[in-house]
Amino acid sequence: MDQRPIGVMDSGIGGLSVVRVLRDHLPHEAIVFVGDQGHFPYGLRTQADVCQLALNIGKYLLTHDIKMMIIACNTATAASLPTLQKELPIPVIGVIKPGAEAALAEPHHERVGVIATESTTKAGAYPKTIHELDPNVTVISKAAQPMVAVVQHNEVGTAKAQTVVDQELAIFKEKPVQVLILGCTHFPFLSREITNFLGSNVTLVDPALETVKTAAEMLQTTDSLNNNTTKGTLTLYSTADNAELVQGAEKWLAGDQFTCNHVDIPGD
Ligand code: DGL
Repeated sequence: MDQRPIGVMDSGIGGLSVVRVLRDHLPHEAIVFVGDQGHFPYGLRTQADVCQLALNIGKYLLTHDIKMMIIACNTATAASLPTLQKELPIPVIGVIKPGAEAALAEPHHERVGVIATESTTKAGAYPKTIHELDPNVTVISKAAQPMVAVVQHNEVGTAKAQTVVDQELAIFKEKPVQVLILGCTHFPFLSREITNFLGSNVTLVDPALETVKTAAEMLQTTDSLNNNTTKGTLTLYSTADNAELVQGAEKWLAGDQFTCNHVDIPGD
């Protein structure tokens, strides 16, 4: 039994797509979440830059005495996972390997699509991880950075959101896939728009579920789950203005209780 919180981070509100699965599956765990709105978007930054930002956030989360860190950001996972695992004295997990595993667990996965930020796509993070697990899969990768801002600025459900999704995913009409990995934690919030465009025959994979399963297994193995019977606290921090994060949490974690505060975390 370990009552310390789980630390979670993202460049913005996308990480809430992982937090919502955590709240469903591990409701007794306390969570401290940092949305690095002050340095958003990560997808247009260099790998070195994102690695430093993630490390600084990891160190900040340690001041909350976290027992584990989840990098709820694909871009930061691609840029920093081994560094954080080496530098921080707690277990750290990312979303990419769980996302790849979830896609390959689908019954038809000969052709897998991946949508992600510019940075994750350029790093080839998903094709590399998928091919390590199964070299025979055809992976079609597409950077879809404009979709990130649509979610971050709380424009999901608008006509603009559908237009941006249609434009960014047009390639999958020419090159059809059976499974599409939502390789940016902002994208699960656009699932409806994505299915509107691609149709329900394309299975969408949100890496959050497999990530949370991995976290739960690790905590269980080390007897570190929180066995409290009350709901865990949810504490959100924004490195910029709180408004976007509060609005995002009210929408995507509807009905959940949370507090939100500003925190300054340096960029270098
Ligand atoms: N949500 C992030 C990800 O999963 C990054 C979005 C961004 O800041 O560009 O990659």
